[in-house]
Amino acid sequence: MASYCSCCVLQLFFFFLGVVVFLNVGCLDGVHAATTVKVGNISKVEDAVNFHIYYGQTFKVIKNAIDGKSYLLIQDNSRMAARTKYCTPRIKSFVIPLSNYSIDTELFPVSFFELLGLLGSLKGITSDSVASQCVLKLYEGGEIEIINKSEPQQLAQFGAHFITNIDQPQACNFASFAPFGEETPLQRAEWIKFLGVFANLETTANQVYDAVKENYLCLTKVAASKKSFKPTVAWMGYYDGVWSFTKETYKMKYTEDAGGGNVDNSINKISYNISNPDDLDELHAILCTVDVIIDETYTTDPSGYTLAAFLQNVNIEDHSCFAFLTNQSLWRYDKRVYNSTTLDWFNGAVSQPQLVLADLVEALFPTGNYTTTHFRNLAKEEGVISISPSMCDWDPSVALQPTIVTCG
Ligand SMILES: *[C@@H]1O[C@H](CO)[C@@H](O)[C@H](O)[C@H]1NC(C)=O
Ligand SMILES: *[C@@H]1O[C@H](CO)[C@@H](O)[C@H](O)[C@H]1NC(C)=O
Ligand SMILES: *[C@@H]1O[C@H](CO)[C@@H](O)[C@H](O)[C@H]1NC(C)=O
Ligand SMILES: *[C@@H]1O[C@H](CO)[C@@H](O)[C@H](O)[C@H]1NC(C)=O
Ligand SMILES: *[C@@H]1O[C@H](CO)[C@@H](O)[C@H](O)[C@H]1NC(C)=O
Ligand SMILES: *[C@@H]1O[C@H](CO)[C@@H](O)[C@H](O)[C@H]1NC(C)=O
Ligand SMILES: *[C@@H]1O[C@H](CO)[C@@H](O)[C@H](O)[C@H]1NC(C)=O
Repeated sequence: MASYCSCCVLQLFFFFLGVVVFLNVGCLDGVHAATTVKVGNISKVEDAVNFHIYYGQTFKVIKNAIDGKSYLLIQDNSRMAARTKYCTPRIKSFVIPLSNYSIDTELFPVSFFELLGLLGSLKGITSDSVASQCVLKLYEGGEIEIINKSEPQQLAQFGAHFITNIDQPQACNFASFAPFGEETPLQRAEWIKFLGVFANLETTANQVYDAVKENYLCLTKVAASKKSFKPTVAWMGYYDGVWSFTKETYKMKYTEDAGGGNVDNSINKISYNISNPDDLDELHAILCTVDVIIDETYTTDPSGYTLAAFLQNVNIEDHSCFAFLTNQSLWRYDKRVYNSTTLDWFNGAVSQPQLVLADLVEALFPTGNYTTTHFRNLAKEEGVISISPSMCDWDPSVALQPTIVTCG
């Protein structure tokens, strides 16, 4: 760690960190420097719980509860930018706006950068496992290169290296982007503000989040008004001979917001081993009470995962009581996939939860009029859409507008 300037600005910074420190050296210097740079537009975190943003004159601070670190973001036109660098277990500094950045593609929702119009400065990806047609196109065109995770100097060449998996050794320019740590769909989407701060794009981030939130809440309200019938929804996956019902909070929230009820509130246990006759009987009984199933079973071949595959995994011969079959309400969220392995569910669905909610509302209260984005209907043998670079039909350096669903 190197810190050359101790001044009022830094006092403020330490104040934000919750540490009371008194530093007087060079204070006047700091004040003069500060007056030359204006505070830009700001973002306020309303819903997310795992990060906070604070603003100084020439810098910003993000407190990231996921990695326990504070990021000091210093404006590149300030004096502090040239003088101050932090890389300690508690504090990291970045010079902003970032002129370039890279991402660790492992489950990284790169769609947030699309909504901010920042794909132009994305220069490195750790693999091509990205469910984004425009990132693939930029990679194909040589604008983005693949960097090797095992070569530290390749990761160090960018203004920031964004990661979602924080269980790895982290170099000084690593920033942990963790929407997956939040419990509700809107909280996850609000992480666009986290990224906006690195590019002085608070205004864009606020606009996107406001639009997404308004649309999401509108769809929730309309769904809640359909009170005649509350379909029971089961999110469930099969692995190694066992079916398990999901408990993940954000999925339960999606069901409720779409006007459904979750099966998890009413069953005794979560996992059912289909080789065990008692378990199979119980599973059979539960499935007879369910209106809609979302089959989350992992597969390396989504296009080969059909209704027959589901029925084979369930291993119950008598389907007569399965309302989700009679009513054709059996879904998977792998409709958009790249190279059979990388689902847009972990990308676009995170930044635009209103599209997931609209899909679910269609699954629960079918109109036949709405084309789903992430969900495909197994009961109707709906296939997958394979994401390819040729599908990139907008200028990746321009901010992608969020898709607003007709509501009400
Ligand atoms: C704040 O945002 C507005 C609208 O995007 C923009 O015109 C203005 O330049 C921004 N101000 C600063 C200081 O960044
Ligand atoms: C990445 O770097 C490691 C360590 O230097 C090396 O062993 C490996 O072959 C490299 N991988 C690729 C795909 O270049
Ligand atoms: C990234 O931007 C920094 C300036 O912030 C520059 O020094 C560096 O060379 C750039 N790296 C690449 C790979 O473009
Ligand atoms: C499921 O039950 C079978 C038969 O009792 C057993 O052999 C198998 O190990 C069980 N599977 C799991 C994952 O517990
Ligand atoms: C099918 O869904 C409709 C509502 O969409 C519901 O009224 C009906 O009971 C369902 N049928 C079965 C067999 O569950
Ligand atoms: C698709 O994924 C497989 C398995 O992960 C990988 O070996 C292959 O190189 C990938 N193909 C493309 C075009 O990325
Ligand atoms: C489908 O859309 C058309 C035109 O928007 C509308 O008239 C019709 O009522 C809709 N059908 C259903 C089942 O919602």
